[in-house]
Amino acid sequence: MKLYIETLGCAMNMRDSEHMISELKKQGYTSVTDDAKEADLILINTCSVREKPERKLFSEIGQFARLKKQGAKIGICGCTASHMGEEIIKRAPSVNFVLGARNISKISEIIHKDKAVEVAIDYDDSTYVFDTARNTGIKALLNISIGCDKKCAYCIVPHTRGKEISIPLDLILSEADKLAKNGVKELMLLGQNVNNYGVRFSLPHSRIDFTGLLKELSKIEGIERIRFTSPHPLHMDDAFLEEFASNPKVCKSIHMPLQSGSTRILKSMRRGYSKEWYLNRVAKLKSLVPDVGIGTDIIVGFPTESEEDFADTIDVLEQVGFDTVYSFVYSPRPHTESFGWGEEGSVPKEVASYRLTYLQDKHKEILRQKAKNEIGKIHRVLIENVRTGEVVFSEGRSDNGKLIKIPNKALNIGDILEIQITQSDGGSLIGDMLQ
Ligand code: SAH
Ligand code: SF4
Ligand code: F3S
Repeated sequence: MKLYIETLGCAMNMRDSEHMISELKKQGYTSVTDDAKEADLILINTCSVREKPERKLFSEIGQFARLKKQGAKIGICGCTASHMGEEIIKRAPSVNFVLGARNISKISEIIHKDKAVEVAIDYDDSTYVFDTARNTGIKALLNISIGCDKKCAYCIVPHTRGKEISIPLDLILSEADKLAKNGVKELMLLGQNVNNYGVRFSLPHSRIDFTGLLKELSKIEGIERIRFTSPHPLHMDDAFLEEFASNPKVCKSIHMPLQSGSTRILKSMRRGYSKEWYLNRVAKLKSLVPDVGIGTDIIVGFPTESEEDFADTIDVLEQVGFDTVYSFVYSPRPHTESFGWGEEGSVPKEVASYRLTYLQDKHKEILRQKAKNEIGKIHRVLIENVRTGEVVFSEGRSDNGKLIKIPNKALNIGDILEIQITQSDGGSLIGDMLQ
């Protein structure tokens, strides 16, 4: 039987989709197709972090219902499934089941039911041993926790993924070991708040924190690189930053979600840190790892954001010189604190989108300048992608997260090579093997 699966949202959803694919293989869905017309099961793994993709969901379900083959089932999974639950089937009767982000391990049961809804956000998937069959290649995603304990005023995730529970250390280590034996060299550890690891387990567990987890994982032979997303700036204590800096397997690029550069806005977002704390952590990081790559997420137009608040965000953008920025206009979400504020303090749409464009243009300028400064530098690059045919090139990422293209060479995927930057093209980097 054939499975069609569409995955929206973040890396957690990508990993959940991988989990579902491997579980469904055992149920006879042995091939994944990219043509929904020939599928026996159509899954949409949804995201609800912003309003727009959610709005599109129902028209998409309608399209699938029209084109699917007779008898094929439609299942809605993920975060929108969690918070809309039954309402999805009421509005779209062609849907056979709804499976929340916290209930992914029940996929093998729910496909046999009709009009079933499993969305409990207190369901505990943290000790479930998923089937590990996956076509990984050299990089793999690895969950270390589920849920999120924070209460950021704008964010729906705690409502869709429930309370934070850490996955037991032995499960993580055995999964990492299996991956290494299958040829994986780089792990991407996943959680909404990775550096809060160890805060709560569902079964009795020895004490361990994220720094301890990094130490344990880096003992695994064959794993050469470890990345993680997302750490929370509030939990970036000195011990964590020192481990990040000194552990040779931990890649020197980090995602530090800023959200806003204004202390006043950060407070009303309930982020738990100030502009000064954030800059202090970046300064400490740069003093330990001068070439560190830093990425971030920024929301513009949060209620009551003034020109002055926005100027603080631009100030942090310029001071840090981020390598990657994911920026969004604030989108009011149900079940969040700021949704309850209604129109109060809301920033006009045009102002918010002007700020977004301004921020993105500023960032492009920063990237151009940073790329120029890279010329002549040497990076250890893991080759991830090779193109042959008319145009030949290889591509890979440096330890500090920079994407580097090596023209006219078909290198070996999985090799880690010394590459020197020869040119910059806008914000992109071009390099060659060190002679
Ligand atoms: N746990 C991560 C973020 C997960 S959500 C963290 O704390 O950083 C991914 C990103 O979506 C967030 O970093 C935020 O920038 C954005 N986001 C979340 N809710 C949003 C909303 N209501 N409107 C606009 N962007 C939002
Ligand atoms: Fe959302 Fe905040 Fe949790 Fe991140 S830390 S998932 S932004 S509530
Ligand atoms: Fe991820 Fe979207 Fe859910 S960002 S946690 S899939 S709301």
